[in-house]
Amino acid sequence: MNTKRGIAAVCAAAVLFSGCGNNSNPDANSSDNSEVYMSSSSSSSIVESSTSSSSSSSSISSSSSSSSSVETSSSVESSSSSSVESSKISSSSVASSKPVSSAVESRPTEIPDILPENISEINENIVVEENDEIRIEKDSALRLNSEMELNGDLYVEGRLIIEESAKISGTGILHVANSFDDIDCKGTVTAKIDAPEPVEIDGVTYVGGVLVANKKYALPKNFGNGLSKELNTAVKAMRADSGFKMPIISGFRSYATQEKVFANWCAKDGEEVARTYSAVPGTSEHQTGLAADITSCMASYAKTAEAKWLAENCYKYGCIIRYPADKVAITGYIYEPWHIRYLGKSTAKLVHDSGLCLEEFLEIDG
Ligand code: DAL
Ligand code: ZN
Repeated sequence: MNTKRGIAAVCAAAVLFSGCGNNSNPDANSSDNSEVYMSSSSSSSIVESSTSSSSSSSSISSSSSSSSSVETSSSVESSSSSSVESSKISSSSVASSKPVSSAVESRPTEIPDILPENISEINENIVVEENDEIRIEKDSALRLNSEMELNGDLYVEGRLIIEESAKISGTGILHVANSFDDIDCKGTVTAKIDAPEPVEIDGVTYVGGVLVANKKYALPKNFGNGLSKELNTAVKAMRADSGFKMPIISGFRSYATQEKVFANWCAKDGEEVARTYSAVPGTSEHQTGLAADITSCMASYAKTAEAKWLAENCYKYGCIIRYPADKVAITGYIYEPWHIRYLGKSTAKLVHDSGLCLEEFLEIDG
């Protein structure tokens, strides 16, 4: 079921710079410019080497120790038709055109709006009881237009579309079998999300398609091609919508650049202290091209109107504040209100709504 993908990104010139580090040191050098980004071919040229989905009809099914699966105010059996007014979901056959994958290189694009011909919909508020489960099986899709109180389990192997007005809350768990790309979340999820296990491809770790670079999961030396086009586009959109200038003062940093940056901070503060704000070469998110430091690497940046706007709104553009103030013990880094990480809009919203840092959300060590 795994889809192995390779990157054929066009290499952009890597620009040397000093990189953000100590929060008392505005060390960024603007020569690491925001216009250096991965060509869009890095996303469009992803090579799919597998994903042979079964042509057999798949289903959204629910099962339960009790006879009735999902209780709601009304009862409608789902079917292969395009609209399922659901209160009792049993077995709905739908077809999905979206391949299932367990790993993609970096969630480079927003989730395409490709919908199956037959898609099940839930339009009424429902309660999934504690011992109940719903399965969105491979090649199936479910669109949620209403509120789901999830006290049991929701397994997503196909595609789950959570519309803006929709909400999944409760004490149950939403299990992502393969990729966060399988969820298109415009609504709200407060229920716990269970992430897939980490997958390593060519020395790079992904969790549910999310590329991981942290103290625990390092990148190969030669990984990275420049700033991601999607991140660059997101920052431009944030500038336009907020009115803030938001320069990228540090974007892509190659392994070699990070070596220089880290050595510089070690010389200044000693390695133990440097490690709290600067990544050991090979472990910096900047090497992925999916992270950027905005405007200032001073602690005082957090107090600015721009930083507040960024913290409150960047998820709408597909980014998260990667090292939050209240997660220092988990990320292993000081609060960096300037460091954003691109995840794509849907996953960024899920992470934002969870209140978790990326390590917690992906259930990995920091
Ligand atoms: N300042 C962050 C942790 C980095 O060096 O990547
Ligand atoms: Zn940074």
